Amino acid sequence: MPALHPSFRRTPPATALTPGVTADPVASFLECHDRIRTFLAGLGRLAALDDLADPRAPDAARACARYFSIGLPLHGQDEDESLSPRLRLVATDDVLDALDRMTQDHREMDGGLPMLLAQLEGVIAGDPPAPEALRASHRWLEALMDAHMAMEEAIIFPAARGLEAAELSAIAAEMRGRR
Ligand SMILES: [Fe+2]
Ligand SMILES: [Fe+2]
Repeated sequence: MPALHPSFRRTPPATALTPGVTADPVASFLECHDRIRTFLAGLGRLAALDDLADPRAPDAARACARYFSIGLPLHGQDEDESLSPRLRLVATDDVLDALDRMTQDHREMDGGLPMLLAQLEGVIAGDPPAPEALRASHRWLEALMDAHMAMEEAIIFPAARGLEAAELSAIAAEMRGRR
C-alpha cells in the first residue's frame, strides 16, 4: 500500500492543546487562561537561555509554537465568535467597552504572533534569532496578555455568568465544535 502523501497526515487534534470544554463555558475560558499563562512562562524560560542553539531549545520552541499557533487563536475565536455576540445583546455599557477592548487586543495579538512564530521556527530549524529578539517578543505578548486576561476575568467573564443557561450551552457546543 503506498504511503499517504504528507498532506493527508493528521495534524495533532486541537484538544491536545486546549482543555476539554465542559458544560460551563466560563470555567473552560478560565482553564484556557491557565494554559496561556503556563505557555507564556515556558516561552519566558526559553527566551532566558543564553544561547538559543542550546540542545533543549528546539523541543521547547516546538511546544510553544504549537500552542501559540493553534490553542491561543482558538481561545480568541471562542471569545469573539461564541461569547461576544451573545453577551453584546444584554451587556451594560462597561461590558460593551470591555468587549470592544477584547476584540482590539485580539487583533493586536494576531498582528504580532507571526513574528514570534517565525522566531520559534528559527529555533526549531537550528537557525535561531538572537535571544534578545525572542525576549522582546515574550515581553510584548506577556504584557498584552496579562492586562487582557485580567480585564476579561474582572469584567467579561462575570457578566457572561449572567447569560441564560441555553446561551451558555450554545457557547459550549460551539467551542466543542471547534476542537
Ligand atoms: Fe481574549
Ligand atoms: Fe481570554
